[in-house]
Amino acid sequence: MWWLESTLSLENLVSEIQEASNRISKLVKSIKDYSHMDRGVAMEAVDIHEGLRSTLTMLKHKFKSKNIQLVKNLAPELPNVKGFAGELNQVWTNLIVNAIDAMAPGGELSVHTYPDREYVRVDITDNGSGIPEDIQTRIFEPFFTTKAMGEGTGMGLDIVRKIVNRHKGEIDVESRPGKTTFSLCFPGDK
Ligand SMILES: Nc1ncnc2c1ncn2[C@@H]1O[C@H](COP(=O)(O)OP(=O)(O)OP(=O)(O)O)[C@@H](O)[C@H]1O
Ligand SMILES: [Mg+2]
Repeated sequence: MWWLESTLSLENLVSEIQEASNRISKLVKSIKDYSHMDRGVAMEAVDIHEGLRSTLTMLKHKFKSKNIQLVKNLAPELPNVKGFAGELNQVWTNLIVNAIDAMAPGGELSVHTYPDREYVRVDITDNGSGIPEDIQTRIFEPFFTTKAMGEGTGMGLDIVRKIVNRHKGEIDVESRPGKTTFSLCFPGDK
Protein backbone atom coordinates (compact mmCIF):
# COMPACT_ATOMS: atom_id res chain seq x y z
CA MET A 1 0.00 0.00 0.00
CA TRP A 2 2.71 2.52 -0.91
CA TRP A 3 0.07 5.03 -2.10
CA LEU A 4 -1.74 5.11 1.24
CA GLU A 5 1.47 5.74 3.11
CA SER A 6 2.55 8.55 0.84
CA THR A 7 -0.90 10.20 0.98
CA LEU A 8 -0.76 10.16 4.76
CA SER A 9 2.70 11.64 4.88
CA LEU A 10 1.65 14.25 2.34
CA GLU A 11 -1.25 15.22 4.59
CA ASN A 12 1.13 15.43 7.54
CA LEU A 13 3.43 17.59 5.56
CA VAL A 14 0.63 19.94 4.49
CA SER A 15 -0.61 20.36 8.04
CA GLU A 16 2.94 20.95 9.26
CA ILE A 17 3.40 23.63 6.63
CA GLN A 18 0.11 25.24 7.63
CA GLU A 19 1.20 25.27 11.24
CA ALA A 20 4.59 26.71 10.38
CA SER A 21 3.14 29.48 8.26
CA ASN A 22 0.73 30.34 11.07
CA ARG A 23 3.66 30.66 13.42
CA ILE A 24 5.55 32.79 10.92
CA SER A 25 2.68 35.22 10.40
CA LYS A 26 2.28 35.57 14.16
CA LEU A 27 5.99 36.28 14.45
CA VAL A 28 5.88 38.84 11.64
CA LYS A 29 2.99 40.57 13.37
CA SER A 30 4.89 40.79 16.64
CA ILE A 31 7.98 42.09 14.85
CA LYS A 32 5.81 44.79 13.25
CA ASP A 33 4.20 45.63 16.60
CA TYR A 34 7.57 45.69 18.29
CA SER A 35 9.41 47.88 15.79
CA HIS A 36 6.43 50.08 14.92
CA MET A 37 7.48 49.87 11.31
CA ASP A 38 4.06 50.88 10.11
CA ARG A 39 3.46 53.83 12.41
CA GLY A 40 4.33 57.51 12.53
CA VAL A 41 7.15 59.22 14.39
CA ALA A 42 5.17 61.68 16.52
CA MET A 43 4.41 61.16 20.21
CA GLU A 44 1.26 59.13 20.54
CA ALA A 45 -0.81 57.44 23.22
CA VAL A 46 1.10 54.24 23.93
CA ASP A 47 -0.41 51.10 25.41
CA ILE A 48 2.33 49.88 27.78
CA HIS A 49 0.92 46.36 27.94
CA GLU A 50 0.98 46.01 24.17
CA GLY A 51 4.67 47.01 24.15
CA LEU A 52 5.55 44.65 26.98
CA ARG A 53 3.75 41.77 25.27
CA SER A 54 5.47 42.19 21.93
CA THR A 55 8.83 42.64 23.67
CA LEU A 56 8.31 39.41 25.61
CA THR A 57 7.35 37.62 22.40
CA MET A 58 10.54 38.86 20.74
CA LEU A 59 12.59 37.59 23.68
CA LYS A 60 10.79 34.26 24.07
CA HIS A 61 13.78 32.30 22.79
CA LYS A 62 15.98 33.80 25.53
CA PHE A 63 13.51 32.78 28.25
CA LYS A 64 13.34 29.30 26.77
CA SER A 65 17.04 28.72 26.32
CA LYS A 66 17.74 29.71 29.94
CA ASN A 67 14.56 28.16 31.32
CA ILE A 68 13.48 31.47 32.89
CA GLN A 69 10.00 31.60 34.42
CA LEU A 70 7.96 34.68 33.60
CA VAL A 71 5.50 36.08 36.14
CA LYS A 72 3.16 38.71 34.72
CA ASN A 73 1.17 40.88 37.09
CA LEU A 74 -0.51 43.41 34.80
CA ALA A 75 -3.04 45.95 36.03
CA PRO A 76 -6.51 45.28 34.61
CA GLU A 77 -6.81 48.95 33.70
CA LEU A 78 -3.77 51.03 32.91
CA PRO A 79 -3.74 54.52 31.38
CA ASN A 80 -1.74 55.02 28.21
CA VAL A 81 1.56 56.89 28.24
CA LYS A 82 2.29 59.69 25.79
CA GLY A 83 5.43 58.80 23.94
CA PHE A 84 7.28 56.84 21.33
CA ALA A 85 6.22 53.22 21.35
CA GLY A 86 9.38 51.98 19.64
CA GLU A 87 11.62 53.72 22.18
CA LEU A 88 9.65 52.37 25.11
CA ASN A 89 10.11 48.88 23.66
CA GLN A 90 13.87 49.49 23.74
CA VAL A 91 13.53 50.26 27.44
CA TRP A 92 11.72 46.98 28.17
CA THR A 93 14.15 45.06 26.00
CA ASN A 94 17.30 46.42 27.67
CA LEU A 95 15.96 45.88 31.18
CA ILE A 96 14.68 42.38 30.50
CA VAL A 97 17.85 41.28 28.69
CA ASN A 98 19.96 42.60 31.60
CA ALA A 99 17.77 40.68 34.03
CA ILE A 100 18.05 37.45 32.04
CA ASP A 101 21.83 37.90 31.84
CA ALA A 102 22.02 38.29 35.63
CA MET A 103 20.04 35.11 36.40
CA ALA A 104 21.12 31.53 36.62
CA PRO A 105 19.15 29.01 34.56
CA GLY A 106 15.72 28.44 36.12
CA GLY A 107 15.48 32.03 37.38
CA GLU A 108 12.30 34.06 37.68
CA LEU A 109 11.52 37.37 36.08
CA SER A 110 8.47 39.32 37.05
CA VAL A 111 6.78 42.24 35.34
CA HIS A 112 4.37 44.28 37.42
CA THR A 113 2.31 47.21 36.13
CA TYR A 114 -0.06 49.41 38.11
CA PRO A 115 -1.59 52.87 38.03
CA ASP A 116 -0.53 55.28 40.79
CA ARG A 117 -2.41 58.59 40.89
CA GLU A 118 -1.70 60.21 37.50
CA TYR A 119 1.25 57.91 36.86
CA VAL A 120 1.83 54.57 35.24
CA ARG A 121 4.31 52.35 37.05
CA VAL A 122 6.26 49.37 35.77
CA ASP A 123 8.47 47.20 37.99
CA ILE A 124 10.81 44.63 36.48
CA THR A 125 12.24 42.22 39.06
CA ASP A 126 14.70 39.37 38.74
CA ASN A 127 16.13 36.93 41.27
CA GLY A 128 19.63 37.03 39.85
CA SER A 129 23.03 38.01 41.20
CA GLY A 130 22.07 41.53 42.22
CA ILE A 131 24.12 44.67 41.59
CA PRO A 132 26.97 45.23 44.08
CA GLU A 133 26.28 48.35 46.10
CA ASP A 134 29.45 50.16 45.07
CA ILE A 135 28.50 50.06 41.39
CA GLN A 136 24.78 50.81 41.73
CA THR A 137 25.40 54.51 41.09
CA ARG A 138 27.47 53.78 38.00
CA ILE A 139 25.31 51.40 36.01
CA PHE A 140 23.56 54.22 34.11
CA GLU A 141 26.86 55.67 32.91
CA PRO A 142 27.60 55.15 29.22
CA PHE A 143 30.06 52.32 28.59
CA PHE A 144 29.87 51.04 32.16
CA THR A 145 29.69 47.25 31.99
CA THR A 146 30.74 44.29 34.09
CA LYS A 147 30.36 41.97 31.13
CA ALA A 148 33.28 40.47 29.28
CA MET A 149 34.85 42.24 26.33
CA GLY A 150 32.62 41.76 23.31
CA GLU A 151 29.62 40.73 25.41
CA GLY A 152 28.28 44.09 26.57
CA THR A 153 28.85 47.64 25.40
CA GLY A 154 27.57 49.24 28.59
CA MET A 155 25.19 51.38 26.55
CA GLY A 156 21.95 49.64 27.51
CA LEU A 157 21.10 51.55 30.68
CA ASP A 158 22.42 54.84 29.30
CA ILE A 159 19.92 54.49 26.45
CA VAL A 160 17.20 53.52 28.92
CA ARG A 161 17.87 56.58 31.08
CA LYS A 162 17.79 58.92 28.05
CA ILE A 163 14.52 57.50 26.78
CA VAL A 164 12.93 57.67 30.24
CA ASN A 165 13.99 61.32 30.55
CA ARG A 166 12.57 62.16 27.14
CA HIS A 167 9.25 60.74 28.36
CA LYS A 168 9.42 62.81 31.55
CA GLY A 169 9.55 59.60 33.51
CA GLU A 170 11.74 58.31 36.32
CA ILE A 171 13.73 55.17 36.90
CA ASP A 172 15.06 53.74 40.15
CA VAL A 173 16.84 50.58 41.05
CA GLU A 174 16.83 48.55 44.24
CA SER A 175 19.11 45.58 44.42
CA ARG A 176 20.49 42.96 46.74
CA PRO A 177 21.71 39.47 45.92
CA GLY A 178 18.70 37.48 44.72
CA LYS A 179 16.43 40.46 44.14
CA THR A 180 16.83 43.36 41.75
CA THR A 181 13.98 45.67 40.83
CA PHE A 182 14.01 48.43 38.25
CA SER A 183 11.02 50.69 38.94
CA LEU A 184 9.79 53.01 36.25
CA CYS A 185 7.22 55.72 36.40
CA PHE A 186 5.67 57.66 33.51
CA PRO A 187 3.04 60.37 33.50
CA GLY A 188 -0.20 58.91 32.16
CA ASP A 189 -1.82 60.33 29.03
CA LYS A 190 -5.05 61.97 30.17
N1 LIG B 1 19.18 43.15 36.52
C1 LIG B 1 20.49 43.27 36.75
N2 LIG B 1 21.12 42.46 37.65
C2 LIG B 1 22.45 42.57 37.89
N3 LIG B 1 23.25 43.49 37.29
C3 LIG B 1 22.68 44.32 36.39
C4 LIG B 1 21.29 44.26 36.07
N4 LIG B 1 21.03 45.23 35.15
C5 LIG B 1 22.20 45.86 34.92
N5 LIG B 1 23.20 45.31 35.63
C6 LIG B 1 24.61 45.75 35.66
O1 LIG B 1 24.71 47.02 35.03
C7 LIG B 1 25.69 46.98 34.02
C8 LIG B 1 25.33 47.98 32.93
O2 LIG B 1 24.17 47.54 32.23
P1 LIG B 1 23.96 48.03 30.73
O3 LIG B 1 22.69 47.45 30.24
O4 LIG B 1 24.10 49.51 30.66
O5 LIG B 1 25.19 47.43 29.96
P2 LIG B 1 25.50 45.90 29.61
O6 LIG B 1 24.28 45.07 29.81
O7 LIG B 1 26.72 45.52 30.37
O8 LIG B 1 25.84 45.99 28.08
P3 LIG B 1 24.79 46.23 26.88
O9 LIG B 1 23.44 46.47 27.48
O10 LIG B 1 25.29 47.44 26.18
O11 LIG B 1 24.88 45.00 26.07
C9 LIG B 1 25.78 45.53 33.60
O12 LIG B 1 27.01 45.22 33.02
C10 LIG B 1 25.55 44.81 34.92
O13 LIG B 1 26.75 44.77 35.67
MG1 LIG C 1 22.40 45.70 28.99
